[in-house]
Amino acid sequence: MKNVLITGGAGFIGSHVVRLFVNKYPDCLILNFDKLTYAGNLLNLADIEQKENYLFVKGDVTDADQVFSLFSEHAFDTVIHLAAESHVDRSIANPMEFVHTNVLGTVNLLNAARHNWKDAFEGKRFYHISTDEVYGSLGDVGLFTEETPYDPRSPYSASKASSDHFVRAYYHTYGLPVILSNCSNNYGPNQFPEKLIPLFIHNIIEKKPLPVYGKGENVRDWLYVLDHAVAIDQIVRRGKLGETYNIGGHNEWKNIDLIRLMCGIMDKKLGREAGTSEGLITYVKDRAGHDLRYAIDAGKVSRDLGWEPSVTFEEGLDKTIDWYLANTEWLRQTTSGDYLSYYRQQYEER
Ligand code: NAD
Ligand code: DAU
Repeated sequence: MKNVLITGGAGFIGSHVVRLFVNKYPDCLILNFDKLTYAGNLLNLADIEQKENYLFVKGDVTDADQVFSLFSEHAFDTVIHLAAESHVDRSIANPMEFVHTNVLGTVNLLNAARHNWKDAFEGKRFYHISTDEVYGSLGDVGLFTEETPYDPRSPYSASKASSDHFVRAYYHTYGLPVILSNCSNNYGPNQFPEKLIPLFIHNIIEKKPLPVYGKGENVRDWLYVLDHAVAIDQIVRRGKLGETYNIGGHNEWKNIDLIRLMCGIMDKKLGREAGTSEGLITYVKDRAGHDLRYAIDAGKVSRDLGWEPSVTFEEGLDKTIDWYLANTEWLRQTTSGDYLSYYRQQYEER
């Protein structure tokens, strides 16, 4: 790798990937291309923005002219595509934005890579970051493997599934050197407080209601974000072209159990009486089409590339909560302005 384009690098996972690559590969140019939507935040990268091998370009993956000229200005050999609309609830409220960014944006990048690489694909890699949600919803047993048929059930997962199909289509049709991975729920520092863990941490700090969808019985598999970034590093360098790798944490939690665990930890950290935060739990109307359970068989990435999650959930959750408690300015900035009207729309009429 000499010139790496990372899209969506100012977002949650992208910022951890950018930091890892900038520090680990000082001789590589790492170019972060991000639109800075509500979810993108340059504060996430304040500690590395002065590094010589790092460049930020504000831009939109759906803008073909911009993407094509970016490719002609920089001789990218590697693309790691993370830019996306990523929140299921927002996709239910506004599906078209997801079609636009996640589908059109991905196809734009594929076209730019193909044309600029001029069908000379030696040494090039286009790595598409996707989600386990494309596989649909599991019952009480079973795991998603790389062979599980796609069955997306939310506008978000349908848009990601569509983008995955386009990536594979470019591999089969044009021979574009692609790799994909589908990961389970990430958590950790810098996650926008619309997703379960940071939203609930924020609400506990503020002593606001904790809105549990339905009965809180849905199950998610949680992976610490840095472990995902390390998997991405392994896969982009050592993964086999045309292949897909599932990434997961072997760490399934029923939402309500996870929420109770967080409440207990935060009561201790905030010096509050035990049970204070649990008292904030409020059951609200379920998410439309709420997938019951996601769980990943991450055997392939372990066998082929030796990747395993390294951070235990106890450790990761503790670090995450400490990060939010220490980064009050980040939390204040991300939960003011537009966030307030989003929050009102999403939760006040539930
Ligand atoms: P995020 O919402 O935190 O960040 C998305 C980033 O993309 C933001 O910086 C945003 O500004 C940028 N972006 C959005 N639209 C853009 C556009 N048109 N042009 C350029 N940049 C744009 O998302 P995340 O949680 O970090 O997820 C990153 C990727 O990983 C997504 O593709 C998502 O589908 C996938 N993923 C996420 C998870 C998870 O648990 N968060 C799990 C598996 C896969
Ligand atoms: O599985 C990977 C996916 O995980 C990623 O592709 C998505 O980008 C990411 O957002 C995440 O999707 P989920 O829908 O699983 O994450 P979210 O944090 O929104 O919700 C987690 C669970 O918590 C889910 O069952 C819904 C529930 N929930 C969520 C919110 C925001 C609540 O009960 N209350 C809430 O307020």
